[in-house]
Amino acid sequence: MSRAASAGPAERWFGDRFGGRPEGVWRAPGRANLIGEHTDYNQGWVLPFALHLGVTVAASQRGDGVLAIASRQAPAAPAGPPLATLAPGAVTGWAAYPAGVAWALREAGHRLAGGASLAIDSDLPQGAGLSSSAALECATALALAGLYGLDLSRRELAALAWRAENDFVGVPSGIMDQSASLLARAGHALLLDCRSGETADVPLDPAGAGLELIIVDTGARHALGDGRYAERRSECDRAAALLGVSSLRDVASLAALSGLADPVLRRRARHVITENGRVEETVALLTGGDLAGVGPVLLASHASLRDDFEVSWPEADATVDAAMGAGALGARMMGGGFGGSALALVPAGQRAVGTAITAEFARRGWPAPAFVPAVPSAGALRVR
Ligand code: GLA
Repeated sequence: MSRAASAGPAERWFGDRFGGRPEGVWRAPGRANLIGEHTDYNQGWVLPFALHLGVTVAASQRGDGVLAIASRQAPAAPAGPPLATLAPGAVTGWAAYPAGVAWALREAGHRLAGGASLAIDSDLPQGAGLSSSAALECATALALAGLYGLDLSRRELAALAWRAENDFVGVPSGIMDQSASLLARAGHALLLDCRSGETADVPLDPAGAGLELIIVDTGARHALGDGRYAERRSECDRAAALLGVSSLRDVASLAALSGLADPVLRRRARHVITENGRVEETVALLTGGDLAGVGPVLLASHASLRDDFEVSWPEADATVDAAMGAGALGARMMGGGFGGSALALVPAGQRAVGTAITAEFARRGWPAPAFVPAVPSAGALRVR
């Protein structure tokens, strides 16, 4: 679905719920991550790109200080917290994401005095590891900044959306998803240095290379808040502390890991260090016009996430094996892990990979996976 086409449903939804025409419509995409997994909260590098699927928010200012939120995907559960009462824990469920953004803006000293009506529509699958929550936060952040004329850079908005997720919703994510949604450019991946915040656009044009990137939604559902993601974060923090560095980014070589007595912490740290290296390698390959050469790097990333970081899940492993057996150039699990989607790099128009994955799922008695083409798209924007 194109962005222009998707403004209509959100506008009509606004009319149904609040009456009249919204002052504006904003849209923020979900993301895929080409490579750089579990490196963001270790102050390392990531290389995500924006998807063509996302969240649209049709919005207007109000005069009563209320944040009225209605989602087309959850029509039975509208929310209407007064802005003045917003505090962590005060709003739960999906509405906590947009409410958290209003809270983070207020905490940063921005006035949204009259409140806002937000009509939300999404074409992103939820729980598929494509950052539907970050897209919701970022679309809300752009909408509120637009309605109230707030002078905030995309980077500042990403930091506020990230704060909403961490400090209001209570999910301890890194900064990758919000950055990708707000900062990515069409036809490019976004290289982000998660320590300095510096970014660079790296050309990513699968079609031009005669290839396709395919997202495989494995159907296994994950939740970043279920504790296992936080456990990985604290293992990384412990490893860094034991190695005497402020984050694993600062570990210069694998040799230094002999200083870690605990084999689990050693494996976790090894993943982060080698994954940072794989981001660098991928950027060099893409800059040199060799997308096909990225295939083996994706596969090495998967092995590291499966064996060293231990965040893969059976459906992702089966997807990667079936894809490689049917002629993919590379494949790996994507996102936080324990469920969600995998990414495969395949020759354009080649159907054998999808067929092989579907057949493998059927053989194992799993529900059929869903396939989403991953086209590097533009970051968030005002649709009208
Ligand atoms: C989730 C988080 C990100 C990042 C990835 C793993 O998507 O939201 O911040 O940590 O997991 O790379």
